[in-house]
Amino acid sequence: MTTAQTASILNAPLLLPCGTTLPNRLAKAAMTEMVADSRNRATDAHVQIYRAWARSGPGLMLTGNVQVDYHNLEHPGNVVIQGKQDAEQLAALRRWSAAAKEHGNHIWMQIAHAGRQTNRFVNPTPKAPSAIPLAIPGVRFGTPVALTHDEIVELIGRFADAAAVARETGFDGVQLHAAHGYLFSQFLSPRSNIRDDEWGGDLASRARFLLESVKAIRSKVGADFPIGIKLNSADFQRGGFSFEDSQIVATWLDEACVDLIEISGGTYEQPSMTNAAGGEPGHDPYASKASRDRESYFGRFGPEMRRHLKRARLMVTGGLRTARGMADAIANDGFDLIGLARPLCLEPDASAALLRGDPIDLVQPTLRIGSGWLGPKSPIKLIRTITGAGSATWYNEQILRLSAGRRPDRNLNFAGAFIRSQLRERRMAKVLDT
Ligand SMILES: Cc1cc2nc3c(=O)[nH]c(=O)nc-3n(C[C@H](O)[C@H](O)[C@H](O)COP(=O)(O)O)c2cc1C
Repeated sequence: MTTAQTASILNAPLLLPCGTTLPNRLAKAAMTEMVADSRNRATDAHVQIYRAWARSGPGLMLTGNVQVDYHNLEHPGNVVIQGKQDAEQLAALRRWSAAAKEHGNHIWMQIAHAGRQTNRFVNPTPKAPSAIPLAIPGVRFGTPVALTHDEIVELIGRFADAAAVARETGFDGVQLHAAHGYLFSQFLSPRSNIRDDEWGGDLASRARFLLESVKAIRSKVGADFPIGIKLNSADFQRGGFSFEDSQIVATWLDEACVDLIEISGGTYEQPSMTNAAGGEPGHDPYASKASRDRESYFGRFGPEMRRHLKRARLMVTGGLRTARGMADAIANDGFDLIGLARPLCLEPDASAALLRGDPIDLVQPTLRIGSGWLGPKSPIKLIRTITGAGSATWYNEQILRLSAGRRPDRNLNFAGAFIRSQLRERRMAKVLDT
C-alpha cells in the first residue's frame, strides 16, 4: 500500500448510523485519567490532557471511564455522574468537552461501573452480579456483594441519566464500557455471573443488563446521538465470555441501534487488552483465526464480527502502531475505525503523522520489574500481575505529565512509577468526599 493510499484510507470520514459523521478513522481509545477532584468532578487537568491529544486531530476521542456510582470506582480519581448534577459539575464537564473539540474532534464519554474490580481502598465490598471475588493474588480487591434486582434496575436508569448529562454538557456521544471485566462484562461472563434470576443464566439473560441499558440510553438521548459499546472479543479465560458469545451479543447490539462496537478483550484476571500475560494460563482457542500477520492482536476477529453487523460500525483497539497496519485493518479486516491508547501517551501528536500516512512506528518500550523470573513471563503469578498492573500505571504517569503540561518521559522508572501511583491512589481514596 502506498503512502497516498494509506493516508486516503485513514482520512476518509465515517458516517455512523445515527447520522453523525466522524472526520477521520483514528480514535483515541479510552484511558482512565485519574485526575478528578475529591468530589469526583472533572478538573482543569482533563482540559489540559484533551487539548494535548486533540491538537493532532484524531477524529474521535473517548474519555477514560466516567463512573455512575461513587462507591464502585475503578480509581478514586474517576469522574462520577450520579444523581442530579449541580451547576459546578455541569460547568466542569462543559469545559472538558469544549477543550476536546477545539480542533473539530468529536468527544464521547465512556460510562462505566467497576463492579468487583473496585479496589478495596475505595470500597472493600463493591457491588457485582454475584458474590465472586477476583482470582488475583494480594489484597487489592474485596469480595463483592450481589446486586439486588431493584439495584440493577436503578443502575440502568443511572446509565441513561449519565448519557443525558453527557449530551447536555457538549459530549458528542457515549460509549458503554462492556469490556475488560467491568460491571457489564461481569454480567456477560458465566464465571462472574451465576445468578438464577432474569439477569443471569443463558446468554440472553446475562446480556439483558447491557441491552436494557442501551435501550434506556437511546430513549433518553434520542435517535441522533451516537452510542458505542466496548465489547470483549473474548475474556480469554476458560469458561468465560467466548468469541461465539461476543458475536451473538454484537448482533443484538446492532439490532438495538448501537452505532459503534469497539473490539477488545480480557479482564483484570487475564489482561489481554494490553496483550499482557495473565495470572492464569491463557485460554485462546482462536489460533486458527490468526491466518496472517496483523499489528492488532484482536484484528483476527474483524472479518467474522463484520458479517454479523447490518448497521453498526466496527472499531479495533490493541497493538496498532503504524499507519499501514491501521489502513490494512480497515481495508482487509472489516474495521471502520482504529483505536490508539498507549502510543498517544508517549506521542500525543502522533495522529497528525499517521493521517499523513508517514511511516512512523509507535513502538512501545518493554516494561518490566527486571529480567528472567522478574520479567513479564515470570513463572510467579504475583510478578506477572504486578507487571500487568504496573504497565498501566506507567502509562498513566505519562498522562499525568500531559496534565501538567510536561512532555512524556520514555525513561520513566517502572518501579518508581508503580510505587508512586499506589501511594497516590491510597491518598486519593482517603480524601474521597462521598
Ligand atoms: C493507562 C491506561 C488506561 C486505560 N483506561 C481505560 C479505560 O478507562 N477504559 C477502557 O475501555 N480502556 C482503558 N484502557 C485500555 C485501552 O483503551 C486499550 O484498550 C489498550 O491499551 C490497548 O490499546 P493500545 O495497544 O493502543 O494501548 C487503558 C489503557 C491504559 C494503558
